[in-house]
Amino acid sequence: MITQVKPVSPEAIAEAARLIASGELVGMPTETVYGLGANALDEAAVKKIFEAKGRPGDNPLIVHVSCLAEIPPLVREIPESAKRLMEAFWPGPMTLILPKSDKIPSAVSAGLDTVGIRLPASEAARALIAASGCPIAAPSANRSGKPSPTTAQHVFEDMDGRISMILDGGASEVGVESSVIDATGEVPVILRPGGITPEMVEKVLGDVRVDEHVMSPLAEGDIVRSPGMKYKHYAPKAKTVIYDGAAEEVIRAICSRYDAAEAAGEKPAILGFDEHDFGNRTRISLGSVRRPQEAAARLFGALRELDERGETVALCEAVEATGIGLAVMNRMGRAAGFDIERV
Ligand code: TXA
Ligand code: MG
Repeated sequence: MITQVKPVSPEAIAEAARLIASGELVGMPTETVYGLGANALDEAAVKKIFEAKGRPGDNPLIVHVSCLAEIPPLVREIPESAKRLMEAFWPGPMTLILPKSDKIPSAVSAGLDTVGIRLPASEAARALIAASGCPIAAPSANRSGKPSPTTAQHVFEDMDGRISMILDGGASEVGVESSVIDATGEVPVILRPGGITPEMVEKVLGDVRVDEHVMSPLAEGDIVRSPGMKYKHYAPKAKTVIYDGAAEEVIRAICSRYDAAEAAGEKPAILGFDEHDFGNRTRISLGSVRRPQEAAARLFGALRELDERGETVALCEAVEATGIGLAVMNRMGRAAGFDIERV
């Protein structure tokens, strides 16, 4: 199969919509990360997603809609708290877990009786959904176990020959996947942190919980509320360690570990902030220390770069785990197997 990459245009969106409507897969831009889209109501099309990604069948997909009116047929009910979150944060980087209706094929929900719904901010994504005439099921468009793609090029690297088209809408602005919020109970629970932060949810609803597995590895026998938590994610080939503490201590500890690694014949690299001085050691930028959003936007690209350059040790600066920083630390933590040195 030839994989075409086409910049977003009315013609390209129309072509992508025809592919979706005929049961094919399309790589699509969203404001969070690129998705691998298929008609969510077509079980055979949805199964192709799992094949192309190499994704375990028990990990459910998010269903994307282009407007609120498309949601009622997909769910059994919309709790009051969910309505308030929709009003506050959609279109945007938030997925709500809701009780699913019979219209959602069980391949999408992986047998659960809930479904994740998202109304993305990306205009190209919404235009594609509307033109396809169906909701679009889309996981991140990476091969399972790789970092989520934040550019069309990343999607091409992972999906060349596996899908017929990638819509190129430029780099994803948020850079980490949507916040996944279970809105089925009394108090909403953040299962995966993202661009809509616990602080933002708390302002709207007065109460929010963050699942305990957001900042800790799973132990054997732990029960997970979101199947995605079970799977190893975003792990670069390099041995990855995070350093957390006061900036000067962190810089000193990273430099000394770097030098020791190099002396031992390793190929180390630093994921660090622009303002910090690491001498002439190899550094992949996480942007400005004052703007954690830049770390979010750059992290997945940086993890891919580590592998491309054949780095064997990655030493990462932590960010403060508040606001979008919680999402950054969750993804970085998983890449590092939560190997965090406090200095
Ligand atoms: O930003 C995003 O959410 C991107 C873009 C393309 O929209 N999509 C994305 O999908 O990240 P995916 O499949 O890579 O991650 C979805 C996560 C998984 O961890 C999955 O287990 C969880 O959401 N999830 C999906 N449906 C769920 C459900 N019904 N209950 C609990 N967790 C669910
Ligand atoms: Mg994913």
